[in-house]
Amino acid sequence: MRIVQKLNLAPIERRLAALYEGGFNTFQLKTNDVFLDMLTDSGTNAMSDKQLSAMMQADDAYAGSQSFARLQTAVEEVLGKKWLLPVHQGRAAENIICKTFMKNGGIIPMNYHFTTALAHILENGGQIEELLHDDALHIKSDNPFKGNIDINKLVTCIEKHGKENIPFIRMEASTNLIGGQPFSISNLMDVRRVADKYGIMLVLDASLIGENAYLIQKREPEWQENTMADILKMMTNLADLVYFSARKLSSSRGGGICTNRRDLYGKMEAMIPLYEGFLTYGGMSVREIEAMAVGLYETLDETMISQSPAFIEYLVKQLDSQGIPVVTPAGVLGCHIDAKQFCNHIPQTEYPAGALATALYLVSGIRGMERGTISSVRDEAGNEILADVELLRLALPRRVFTLSQIKYVIDRLLWLYDHRELIGGLQFIYEPPVLRFFMGKLAPVSDWPEKVMAKFRKDFGQSL
Ligand code: F0G
Repeated sequence: MRIVQKLNLAPIERRLAALYEGGFNTFQLKTNDVFLDMLTDSGTNAMSDKQLSAMMQADDAYAGSQSFARLQTAVEEVLGKKWLLPVHQGRAAENIICKTFMKNGGIIPMNYHFTTALAHILENGGQIEELLHDDALHIKSDNPFKGNIDINKLVTCIEKHGKENIPFIRMEASTNLIGGQPFSISNLMDVRRVADKYGIMLVLDASLIGENAYLIQKREPEWQENTMADILKMMTNLADLVYFSARKLSSSRGGGICTNRRDLYGKMEAMIPLYEGFLTYGGMSVREIEAMAVGLYETLDETMISQSPAFIEYLVKQLDSQGIPVVTPAGVLGCHIDAKQFCNHIPQTEYPAGALATALYLVSGIRGMERGTISSVRDEAGNEILADVELLRLALPRRVFTLSQIKYVIDRLLWLYDHRELIGGLQFIYEPPVLRFFMGKLAPVSDWPEKVMAKFRKDFGQSL
């Protein structure tokens, strides 16, 4: 059985109407208006035939399901952790970890935040300190490990706040919001040493650990001879607690928290039936649990795990060589375009990355995601906290796109870059208080979308 999905390229006039209907927020577009969906890799990686067939043999029991036992085995064999708490997705793991270990708020040092992790830390009265080394936010760089924590900054942070005010240190594999950038094993080892010295727990967000491990094998000389299985286990062994979004990690749905420490497991256990579901399904369908178990093993297959990073590298190199500002070195999850440079005429308060995301959709039907100030938060006084970077993320989920589709992306981006001065800013017309980028509605500050469309029609004639 081979499965394909028909794509629909709506005319640009329809795409403009769809933008107004969706409040110039790509999360609010409907897929029948979208040609290439590069919003995310979350739950959109292609599944394998083995995953699909495993879903047919699930054991649908409320308690004691054999499907869960198979998942436990996979987690133990692939991630090296014995105790597993199932949750319905990654942010549910963040909820449970924060509720359990942040009873008195506290400071969470980390390489960099992810939106949902930050929201849960704030929700529990905590704060974050982002401790990336100085290179990490340079868009153009040849640093292979932009996701590394600066160990000096970590020690200073702990000394400043006191270890008793630090519930845990959080490391995120393939640091999402700075362009899917990995950390090295030697850096994680250093973080572990600091954690041990001060007696602080180390939590690893492993949602994108497969790709991080793959880039370690490619970029960290000491690990080139090792298998994916060795590298993955080495990484997870260094953490006390590992959590993940299975929507990313195992090309399925769901999530999990795992550990070898019975004491930590015991502290969180009661939260699962309270917020997620019984301990052997955690809010997931058993079919997804089966797909997750198989997907975890497949993470170890280099021919699978390399596909998305290889396409991303191709896209990044092509764009970079033609003068389009992109995050380098190529990371994982997607290609990240620097909207601050692409739209350097748009002030950050008018959301250049959001504007670029809508402009690209308008001229191509390609849906990307804003990763900039719209994805940020306001401070307590209600002022915008301008994001460190303004990125348009074009996600390349595993085994979903063809190379000719990637060439179409390049073609339309080049046209848009030539006409970038036509793109204008956005402003909020509806701004929800939490995770505003999901539901928020915006409007263009002028009639710039109509002008972009007019130029498109002039150049492309009756073409879509
Ligand atoms: N951690 C990281 C590093 C993530 O990228 C995500 C989700 C989560 C946690 C939360 O997991 O969505 O299953 O609740 N990232 C998605 C994205 C949403 O598009 O990058 P979730």
